[in-house]
Amino acid sequence: MTTQKNPLSVQLAIKTPAIQESLTQIIKGLDGFTLQKGNDAARIDVLVLEIGSNPASEFETIRALLQENVVGTLFLTSAKTTSDILLPALRAGAKEFFSQPIDPGEVISAFQKVKAESLVKNQPGEKPLILGRIFSVLGAKGGVGTTTFAVNLATSIQALDPEKLVALIDMNRLVGEVPLFLDLQTDTNWEEIGKNFSRLDAAYLQSAMTHHSSGVYVLPAPSRFETEAHLPADSLFQIVKAMRQFFDYIIIDGGMVFDDNLCKIFAESERVYLVSILSLPCIINVRKLQESILTTGGVTDGKLRIIANRFEKKAQISLTEANKIIGTDISTTIPNDYQLTMEAINNGKTIAEISASSSVAKAYEKLAESVVESANKRPRGIFSWFR
Ligand SMILES: Nc1ncnc2c1ncn2[C@@H]1O[C@H](COP(=O)(O)OP(=O)(O)OP(=O)(O)O)[C@@H](O)[C@H]1O
Ligand SMILES: [Mg+2]
Repeated sequence: MTTQKNPLSVQLAIKTPAIQESLTQIIKGLDGFTLQKGNDAARIDVLVLEIGSNPASEFETIRALLQENVVGTLFLTSAKTTSDILLPALRAGAKEFFSQPIDPGEVISAFQKVKAESLVKNQPGEKPLILGRIFSVLGAKGGVGTTTFAVNLATSIQALDPEKLVALIDMNRLVGEVPLFLDLQTDTNWEEIGKNFSRLDAAYLQSAMTHHSSGVYVLPAPSRFETEAHLPADSLFQIVKAMRQFFDYIIIDGGMVFDDNLCKIFAESERVYLVSILSLPCIINVRKLQESILTTGGVTDGKLRIIANRFEKKAQISLTEANKIIGTDISTTIPNDYQLTMEAINNGKTIAEISASSSVAKAYEKLAESVVESANKRPRGIFSWFR
């Protein structure tokens, strides 16, 4: 009989048949663990992986698996026990390394440690930790609609996925406007939160952030220079990183603050939206910014999405021309409706609140759908990482 209500899942990724067989026998005899049969589990508590012919790329995958929290504990095994295998294995985050042939005592004691840790850590029914997704928004120029975009994307995601926690962070130090756009009175900002970094947990964040009626939690930018605050240069990035544990979606209004914090946030973002309008200076900026964003590291073509805001079919510069100048296709257009967006901004309301049936509201809804759908498709099966 199992002493644990929810046995911990174990997956074997072993190439040598004899090793697979002996590990299977040992794990089958363990209490509190269950061997995963298929290869499509979204998260695995314990993965035992045999390092094979391409250790360098396998270690990269391992690091990503642990970082994304797809695997709880990782054990490695290999026929080779030389330092060129052992050291990178431990650096990549492996908890134990089983030498071959397998010593059952070594394996049993490693698994017992995992079970003991999980009993201390996990309250009954606690869900496995899946990190929140970051969606960053950057303006190709001032005034192109970056804040409108970030605010309406966040509130549209929340409307589609009401059970999830959505955070909206304003990076625009001194000139942040997100609270104004949502008619919120706020008395804290990310600099304040940075000072209390050691206290950062879900309860503190939810009490410190401002809760909008849409459900979105807002984290405003500081509205003055805090001379007494000696926070590390990347403190905002550290806050965002920590927030991934508590929020499902994190939307960043990066304005035009293309600084070190934003570069690091970009690298962790699932998508980076570059908001533009179809004017020549703006399109030229998009081209330049695109180059910089793609060379900062961590942002690939697939992550970067170019948005044509205030789009009109009869505009002087067509989409095709804009695509040619930029060298990449504009992924989404948001229709031009100045009166509607101004009414929303001036009343501290979302566009959907003013007119849910408007083409602008529909465009944001469609965009949010693509975000929620892609989020629901994840987390992917563990073995997709090894393809
Ligand atoms: N889809 C749209 N159609 C027409 N006007 C729009 C649209 N979206 C935003 N705007 C208008 O663009 C103006 C600027 O909007 P917003 O403040 O969101 O831009 P921003 O890029 O964040 O500006 P800033 O650089 O000042 O932070 C507003 O007057 C808003 O009404
Ligand atoms: Mg703005």
